[in-house]
Amino acid sequence: MQGRRLATTDEIIAIVSPDSDEALESLAEWTEERGLELATVAVGDDIGDVYDESRATLGVTLGGDGTFLEGVKTFSPRNIPQLGVNTGTLAFLARVEPEDLADALDETLRGRASVDSRQQVHVEAPGVDATGINDLMVQQVPPENPIDRKVTRLDVYADDEYVGEFEGTGLAVSTPTGSTGISLSANGPVHYPVNNHTLQIVPLHTHKLGVRPIVVSPETELRIVTQEQASLLVDGGRAHTILTEGDEITATGADKLAHVVRTSYDDHFFTAITKKLGWDVRDADVPAAKRREPLSAASKKSITADEETDTVERALTVATEAAKAAGEPLRELHGQVESIDVKTDKSDIVTEADHQADRIITTVIRNEFPDHAVFSEEGSRQRGADSDYTWVIDPLDGTGNFAHGNPNYSISVALVEDGEPVMGVVYVPETDELFSGIAGKGVLRDGDPIGTTDRDQLDESMLISGYDPDGTFLSHFYQASRGVRRLGSAALNLCYLASGSADAVWEHDTYPWDIAAGLVIAREAGATLTDQTGDPYAFGFDTDHRTPLLGSNGSLHPALLEHLEDGLPARSQ
Ligand code: IPD
Ligand code: CA
Ligand code: CA
Repeated sequence: MQGRRLATTDEIIAIVSPDSDEALESLAEWTEERGLELATVAVGDDIGDVYDESRATLGVTLGGDGTFLEGVKTFSPRNIPQLGVNTGTLAFLARVEPEDLADALDETLRGRASVDSRQQVHVEAPGVDATGINDLMVQQVPPENPIDRKVTRLDVYADDEYVGEFEGTGLAVSTPTGSTGISLSANGPVHYPVNNHTLQIVPLHTHKLGVRPIVVSPETELRIVTQEQASLLVDGGRAHTILTEGDEITATGADKLAHVVRTSYDDHFFTAITKKLGWDVRDADVPAAKRREPLSAASKKSITADEETDTVERALTVATEAAKAAGEPLRELHGQVESIDVKTDKSDIVTEADHQADRIITTVIRNEFPDHAVFSEEGSRQRGADSDYTWVIDPLDGTGNFAHGNPNYSISVALVEDGEPVMGVVYVPETDELFSGIAGKGVLRDGDPIGTTDRDQLDESMLISGYDPDGTFLSHFYQASRGVRRLGSAALNLCYLASGSADAVWEHDTYPWDIAAGLVIAREAGATLTDQTGDPYAFGFDTDHRTPLLGSNGSLHPALLEHLEDGLPARSQ
């Protein structure tokens, strides 16, 4: 989950532990000042009555790690990101101190926090069906007769392969988040939890020299079979049972991740464990160059309006983050469009998709560039009268494809300076591809440079047609070339030209938001962009008089224009 998405939060649900009155007061004050809704529930209560899934919700826990874990149980099944305020004592998960609450929330609502999507473990056993963010523990039950055996034996399988017999106090299966708890105290390794989705099995007080910690992927199905009575605890007892001989436990990565909001008011992971666990592998006098900047300073510095960093470079970073954040609801809603339940009436989902994506992108841009104008297909149509800069946005290009469950759709975000597009980002949510370019500074796909082809023979070329109302372009060029494809997202078509997947593209007419970002990307990749007569394509905001666009790798342009001249009917406009 992208932190930028949190810029459109409209409601906070807080899970409040006893003794958190002061923190609750500051939270209530803060939400009231910002006109946000706040609902509160006590630890252990259900949020069913206050949660509305059509609203963008942020979960907050006020308490210690116990309250945070209750939050995970409540929020993660609903994909709600959560921020933990620590009103307890020693906390690893709830890391914002009450005095920083307002600042941390401000940062979150400006879209500047990040979100760690943490792996959870799903556990099934007789009488238990639970998900934990930390661990599960299987251990011996103290015998009634003190002279009886005080160890347990467990057979462990990974995807049906026999791992071996664990003999001793038992074992723990932990997530990276839980690696600093039980597993660490049993000599297991610490896992850096960010973007780490592994699970690890650590023997507890093993009686066998050969049994060591094992790391597996979240897809692996671990099966633990008891050879005698044993207790099972998930997340320190949030779910628990006593198992008898021959019972089977399965543990695997849970489908739902826990979305943990991290602000610059939290310590970095290694700083936190250094403080809290007495971690002593690093020297306090590490040379400055090697020391990672504390998260607070780094993140505050990253995107601030007064930096010397070039506006256009900064715009590219913001556009990238905004487009990726907007891609999340589009992917989720696209999944619903594809479902069999929504075969006939998809229009609501599509409207919702346009709206959510537009809201995320424009909110993020307005937060970071309050003086810039915003011109979006779906929302504001400012033209930058008082600003040199105008953002041009199509939050969902390829609506027709989207509405039919076809993955060929994109998000297009451009910055126009003094009337010319100078920065463009096109993001493809279904493939997670990102095309980006800055005028005069090159163009990338997922960080790698791209360029157009160099074919100059029409009969060897692959063409893409955009809007072609009466099919003239298709019928005229189909036989003359290797083929004409009609894909459905004008922004993406230009990126395909830029990356060499097509030698030319055609649009019968164009809206500014369809092509603003694609123009920068294609131009920077070496494309030639003209109208149907060969005059340079002129970008404009006029939506009443739209112009055709012919784009090519350049070397093919003369052949295209020649063939076009005797093919297309004269335009009336
Ligand atoms: C449309 C797509 C399509 C193009 C149309 C556009 P939308 O945009 O880009 O490929 O041919 O001209 O209107 O409506 O899906 O944002
Ligand atoms: Ca469009
Ligand atoms: Ca659109």
